Amino acid sequence: MRSVTSNKPDVAADPRPLRVPVHVGVIMDGNGRWAASRGLPRIEGHRRGLEALRGAVRTAIDFKLDYLTVYSFSMENWSRPVTEVADLMGLLKRFIRNDLADLKKANVKIKVIGRRDDLKPDIRALLQEAETATCGGTGLNLIVAFNYGARQEIAAAARALAEEARSGLIDPADIDEAFFASRLDTAGVPDPDLIIRTSGEQRLSNFLMWQAAYSEFVFLPIHWPDFDRKAFAAAVEEFGARERRFGGVTPAATASAART
Ligand code: FPP
Repeated sequence: MRSVTSNKPDVAADPRPLRVPVHVGVIMDGNGRWAASRGLPRIEGHRRGLEALRGAVRTAIDFKLDYLTVYSFSMENWSRPVTEVADLMGLLKRFIRNDLADLKKANVKIKVIGRRDDLKPDIRALLQEAETATCGGTGLNLIVAFNYGARQEIAAAARALAEEARSGLIDPADIDEAFFASRLDTAGVPDPDLIIRTSGEQRLSNFLMWQAAYSEFVFLPIHWPDFDRKAFAAAVEEFGARERRFGGVTPAATASAART
């Protein structure tokens, strides 16, 4: 079993191919287009998106993933029409209220990343309840990115470190990559091995930008409501076929260089 604490494996020391991702991030895109292509309102796309999210969690458990991070509301999503924002808030509430008991039973541990201050008190309370109720989970870690933005997360970490330095608690000279990462929302979570985005778009959209430094990306040409077990399996299989070098070279290339 690979260590889940090491973000940058020493591939020279461990030449085994890394086939099963420990941590998968998902950009659940295309709900609106899925609905529009069927002449349905956007909310219907989001409702079906919630069904696909439930399926993705079940599949992640079956695949024995350690971490699944889902991008469910970005800080930029506030710019959508107020009715759509309200619909998305409503779906989050529905997800937690309806599914929390089952998630707990399935041994899932929920963690929420993103800024809570901007959220209404009832939503904040639900997010807290989800984390508290599942804190003993030892199975899948489900990380819900809600009101999340990677640039904002990085700026907040920089601000926190600057304040600690100003108070004399830390020496700026001690700030290295690991120290910085310890001030991110994802502190203690291994970087995503694989990031899947649906809808055919090929961009990160302010999702886990620090953590994705060495992630593999799989872009699927289907919209999120159509993301099923088969699509998830295909993405994991594609990941398994990739060669990850983390900026190094493969053991085969090292051996070949030694021969010349
Ligand atoms: C992107 O599709 C999707 C979102 C902004 C929200 C994702 C929400 C869900 C999967 C439903 C579950 C919701 C929660 C909060 C748990 P889009 O609307 O941008 O689609 P488009 O690009 O086709 O318009």
